[in-house]
Amino acid sequence: MSSLGLENSVKIASNRLPVSVSLDDEGQYAFSRSSGGLVTGLGGLKGLDLEYTWYGWPGIEIPHRDLQQVTRKLREEHSAVPVLLDQQLAERYYDGFSNSTVWPLLHYQLDKVSYDEDTTAAYRKANQVFADTIVRDLKEGDLVWIQDYHLMLLPELLRQRAREMKVSIRLGFFLHTPFPGEEFFTTLPSKNEILDGILGSDVIGFHTDEYRRHFLDACSEVLGLRLFGDKLKVKDHEVTIQTLPIGIEPSDFQKRLDKVEVQEMIRSTRNNFSGLKILVGVDRLDYIKGIPQKLQAMDEFFQIHPDQIGRVVLVQVTIPSRANLELNQKLRTEVQELVGKVNGKYGNVNYVPVHFLYKTISPDELTALYAAADVCFVSSTRDGLNLVSYEYVACHDHDCSADTPPGVLLLSKFAGASSTLKGCLLVNPWDKNHCADAVAQALTMEPGEAMERMKDMRSTVDQQTSFKWAVNFLRALDQKEQEAVDSSLL
Ligand code: F6P
Repeated sequence: MSSLGLENSVKIASNRLPVSVSLDDEGQYAFSRSSGGLVTGLGGLKGLDLEYTWYGWPGIEIPHRDLQQVTRKLREEHSAVPVLLDQQLAERYYDGFSNSTVWPLLHYQLDKVSYDEDTTAAYRKANQVFADTIVRDLKEGDLVWIQDYHLMLLPELLRQRAREMKVSIRLGFFLHTPFPGEEFFTTLPSKNEILDGILGSDVIGFHTDEYRRHFLDACSEVLGLRLFGDKLKVKDHEVTIQTLPIGIEPSDFQKRLDKVEVQEMIRSTRNNFSGLKILVGVDRLDYIKGIPQKLQAMDEFFQIHPDQIGRVVLVQVTIPSRANLELNQKLRTEVQELVGKVNGKYGNVNYVPVHFLYKTISPDELTALYAAADVCFVSSTRDGLNLVSYEYVACHDHDCSADTPPGVLLLSKFAGASSTLKGCLLVNPWDKNHCADAVAQALTMEPGEAMERMKDMRSTVDQQTSFKWAVNFLRALDQKEQEAVDSSLL
């Protein structure tokens, strides 16, 4: 039995593996750790003497001649198994149905949804390839935990395969995005198939009560299913539906903050912007992140408060993402034009109001930037949880030093984190006037109030870690009694 109290082996399936495979200039394979809350959350399970394997798309098509070498390395060194999708299938399943149909739908962006028979078929096929790959290793008693919107058909596919094999397994599914209101979800032509796919699970998890409620509404409207107690009865099994928000590992940020070089970076950022209040934004380049809305709010802020021109700067780090998508390419142009507009209107030779970086920055740089910033501005128009807000909080303490500000979080009411980080200032990103007022309020907040708010949020971020999220979900899946588990782990 593992120190977690689980006797069975765990199989995790997600679109991406925790290690990304790439080819360097010399034609050698490079294996680098993928980023994101999922990887850190489940990465912690490594230390728990738990037998687990992670199944996912390696990100590139691996030629047949290299397959053995790459697969062996992934299995032996990373407990990972690549799910092999050819380039065309990967594009249609990932750029296509996952990111051009489901992603905008789940984020209430109906005008951006495209429905296409080919990409729907590719999604089915890719989920089937995941099932085929996992089934090869399937054993009696396995716990299989499936992640996110790329793999919504996989739970039912695996349930059927396990039944045929007469193997008893338990299946979990976690959705990392919002689940939209039933009137949005039911616009999807393949809604029945998708719901049936997810409902192949024994345990389903969402970040917020709202997403859970929306999912139950869709099950009721589309499939006529009702809750019995806290469970849904589906054909031959019962499904538990949980609210269980992920988090981050705040200790990773604390360790970085303790580094001399990170402290030096914080000092140099504060010096570079000496005399200015710093707002920070960190977002993937994605229309759900509301970056244009944030820039319009800054425009409005300077318009209403001309005395703040020359006193406030926004450092906007924008991480390249899903760059094949035309919508993201157009968004990049729109964002760059807006940055130019604000800088042209309010900047001068010595003062640039918006510092725009279109790149990934290192964890040390990110930590230093968060710590140096007076305010973090999260303006998502919809967001599953939004871990940037957690990361910012993890870099601020209520008993902060004089060198670093207490920190104020401006958080969109449409991000899942708005239901967990109660000390934030809530904003409606669609209302630029209200956002501009909130920016002014954040910049003038008394340190005492800022510290109190930060203390409240910090306690949530410290408690609700990604490691605990993973442990709690797996326990629910395993249906172990809480008392039987070593409580010192939590
Ligand atoms: O749920 C959202 C998510 O899939 C995260 O897990 C991930 O960090 C992010 O979107 C980016 O996704 P990708 O680059 O894999 O498309």
